[in-house]
Amino acid sequence: MTKRVAILISGGGSNMEALVRSMTGDHPARPVLVLSNDPAAGGLAKAAGLGVPTAVVDHKAYSKDRAAFEAALHAALLDAQPDIICLAGFMRILGAEFIRQWDGRILNIHPSLLPKYRGLHTHARALEAGDTYHGCTVHEVTAALDDGPVLGQARMRVLPGDTPDILAARLLPLEHALYPAVLRRFAAGDRRPVMLGG
Ligand code: GRF
Repeated sequence: MTKRVAILISGGGSNMEALVRSMTGDHPARPVLVLSNDPAAGGLAKAAGLGVPTAVVDHKAYSKDRAAFEAALHAALLDAQPDIICLAGFMRILGAEFIRQWDGRILNIHPSLLPKYRGLHTHARALEAGDTYHGCTVHEVTAALDDGPVLGQARMRVLPGDTPDILAARLLPLEHALYPAVLRRFAAGDRRPVMLGG
């Protein structure tokens, strides 16, 4: 049975685009919705151009009422009936109640080699630590931030002269390779981690 995938974004959506473009042919999943918390997210136009239905649940419309935002998000997702939800550059932290309602079905990509550098500014933190390697992780989303079971990692060497922006730019293509590989395996019911890179 083809798995239905909803993708949540907040910005440009390059990871979303890689995921959507990967779901063709004998891939066990298809995209059914791209949803953003930001109506100005560039990824919404990309998704529409790829023929994927889009939706917006603007978090600013709920001011500080996170529960109301997440209830609206949940309702929008129920309409699409996804089997899997992929967070792809989605910059809102989801509460335990929302995650419980989709437990075991939410994936996220995080730009570090977890468990290193949960949270923000991961590239700068890896450089400050003098790490030899950096990378990205796809993990199952649980109530603890950036802490769920690892489903895949891609690794690359840190080079002399790397800055946070250069690291982010060099890492993005690895993200675009890793996330689709993990989604394909996860959608087929295989939870063995995908390990890529040097
Ligand atoms: C990427 O670095 C990703 O790791 C992080 O958000 C950044 C932008 O992603 N989660 P995208 O281009 O919007 O997919």
